[in-house]
Amino acid sequence: MIVMAERLVSPAARFEDNEMEKSLRPGWLSEYIGQKKVKETIDIFIQAARNRREVLDHVLLFGPPGLGKTTLANIIANEMGANIRITSGPAIERPGDLAAILTNLSPGDVLFIDEVHRLSRTVEEVLYPAMEEFAVDIVIGKGPSARSLRLELPRFTLVGATTRAGLLTSPLRDRFGVVSRLDFYRPEELVQIVNRAACILGVEISPEGAYEIAGRSRGTPRVANRFLKRVRDYAQVRANGIITAEVAVEALQFLDVDSIGLDHTDRKILLTVIQKYGGGPVGLETLAAATSEEPETIEDLYEPYLLQLGMLSRTPRGRVATHLAYQHLGLELTWGDPRD
Ligand code: ADE
Repeated sequence: MIVMAERLVSPAARFEDNEMEKSLRPGWLSEYIGQKKVKETIDIFIQAARNRREVLDHVLLFGPPGLGKTTLANIIANEMGANIRITSGPAIERPGDLAAILTNLSPGDVLFIDEVHRLSRTVEEVLYPAMEEFAVDIVIGKGPSARSLRLELPRFTLVGATTRAGLLTSPLRDRFGVVSRLDFYRPEELVQIVNRAACILGVEISPEGAYEIAGRSRGTPRVANRFLKRVRDYAQVRANGIITAEVAVEALQFLDVDSIGLDHTDRKILLTVIQKYGGGPVGLETLAAATSEEPETIEDLYEPYLLQLGMLSRTPRGRVATHLAYQHLGLELTWGDPRD
């Protein structure tokens, strides 16, 4: 399969990732690399719940895509010795869909709802009593003769995931007992993740090769694992199958990923802000139209890493390119940058 470099760095999950991630995904907290604070938090609450023989309180995981929210949900279920049911906000269209899922849960189950901020208001309202009182209220009939029937649910743990906690309504956010934020991984953590994945895949990789892949992976394990696979293909065809630093650099250059992991779209976004809008500020909608991307795609997939690198900043009047963006793109900042 030919993979367009434009999509290669995207932290969004693709089908091949899902298949691959299943085998590379750590199953237990002890195997999970990075996110020290999140791991510690979850570990404490899991141990406490297990000792009391209770279900774990509802957990909200938030942070940019590709950092391991689904992996953590699976780990929580494993560590609790529970089954997991996986769904997502957009997949639950009507209140009845959610009621059906909830009434089919077994005691102690983990229900994972990805993109939990995308639940509709009416569906969300079914979730409130389910989370708080382990019950669903079902309305039978219509008009004056309508009756409400309360169904008891088994005790379960809801694990919700969202890219931005700010998108959640406060009644929903308030019902999670544990709220954990995932951050971009440090390069040395990504090196460990790349080495672990190479070991599972049976790929020979030098420490320098792992370092080159990790350094271009945008702080995101999903991207690191995807790069590893593509570099492995390249090493197999163009070299002797071993991933050295040279092979990794060559392969990623071939895939249009630059020295810090930016791809064509990242550079297009920065260049647009700089060349079309004088460095900004430019509004998200305008920037999206000028780059032919969806505003949500920029906001969820591209912008977080550019913000983290300090190449882009968000101001009340829009996005601004910083001197680091000019420097990285080899452009001259002629008038100084009072906004930095
Ligand atoms: N694979 C993807 N994410 C990982 C992580 N955080 N730890 C270990 N392996 C991983």
